[in-house]
Amino acid sequence: MLYNNYLELIGNTPVVKLNTFRNIPSELFIKLEGNNPVGSMKDRVAKHIVESAERNYLLKKGGTIIESSSGNLAIGLAMVSRVKGYNMICVVDPKISPINLSILRAYNAQIIMVTDCDESGNYLETRINTVKKVLKDNPEYYWPNQYNNPWNPETHKKTAREIYNDFNGELEWLVLPIGTAGLATGCAEEIKKLIPSIKIMVVDAIGSVIFDRPPGKRHLTGIGASIVPPNVRRELYDEIMHVSDKDAFYMNRFLASKEGILVGGSSGAAIYAALKLAIEMNVKGRILSVLPDRGDRYVDTIYSDSWLLERGIDMKKIASNFDLVFS
Ligand SMILES: Cc1ncc(COP(=O)(O)O)c(C=O)c1O
Repeated sequence: MLYNNYLELIGNTPVVKLNTFRNIPSELFIKLEGNNPVGSMKDRVAKHIVESAERNYLLKKGGTIIESSSGNLAIGLAMVSRVKGYNMICVVDPKISPINLSILRAYNAQIIMVTDCDESGNYLETRINTVKKVLKDNPEYYWPNQYNNPWNPETHKKTAREIYNDFNGELEWLVLPIGTAGLATGCAEEIKKLIPSIKIMVVDAIGSVIFDRPPGKRHLTGIGASIVPPNVRRELYDEIMHVSDKDAFYMNRFLASKEGILVGGSSGAAIYAALKLAIEMNVKGRILSVLPDRGDRYVDTIYSDSWLLERGIDMKKIASNFDLVFS
């Protein structure tokens, strides 16, 4: 395959059938967004937002992009910035994983590390205030502001069309993890136009406040939020499932060992939710979970027994129960 530049590799991600779970009424499928060039669905968002900003004269040649993100969007934007010749400033916090920090540095992104957190131990507010402060002094910088940018959900119209084409419209449920609500809102809105009968399950983390639940400590990254993102559109979501760190991470380990699929924690949560949906609602049809990223960057965290034990999660204890119920 010949491509003109790295950005052309974004999108058209593969869908794979899961074969491990046999005693269920449904067929489970996964869409591997980790197959995007720098490893997550946020590559799509970064490209779409930057190109929309260019079309709307918000970003000039050689300009600067600033975003508050410690994760996949920061990495996606850093890569897109390199391809297109922009400067990238990432406002991050001490919870950033060493590997993500190294990737951002490899892309020559400028890092601003905030240090003050709020009472619940979150840094979101400080990060946003830092971005605003920099923008005050540099009003020409472009801030994608993924939590409140309609181009974030708009990106996933294409994701939905890919799904529609892959299944020829024959899909009963779509399972979507939620963080900024870009994927959940964008994909749900478009797929419901294409397949009016489809149902959407949104997967959130226990401890997230997106759906009026009390805040709590969580180790899952990507899904969940400490604010209600303006992109949330509850009327598009037929079911909402909250998944614990423990259930998500065990599903990660289970899939790696049974199907060779190494994906991130929010993907573990999405598959766990799909399986529960299949069993509890007795779904006789096809269920697709969108898996946001690859697992490589989590080998020292959710794929490490000692990292999990330090956080009170004992994989060996969970294993016996889980295998009995699901395999
Ligand atoms: C790994 C991972 N999972 C899930 C999500 C949630 O997606 P969205 O922000 O579109 O709601 C993100 C967002 O950054 C993510 O990085």
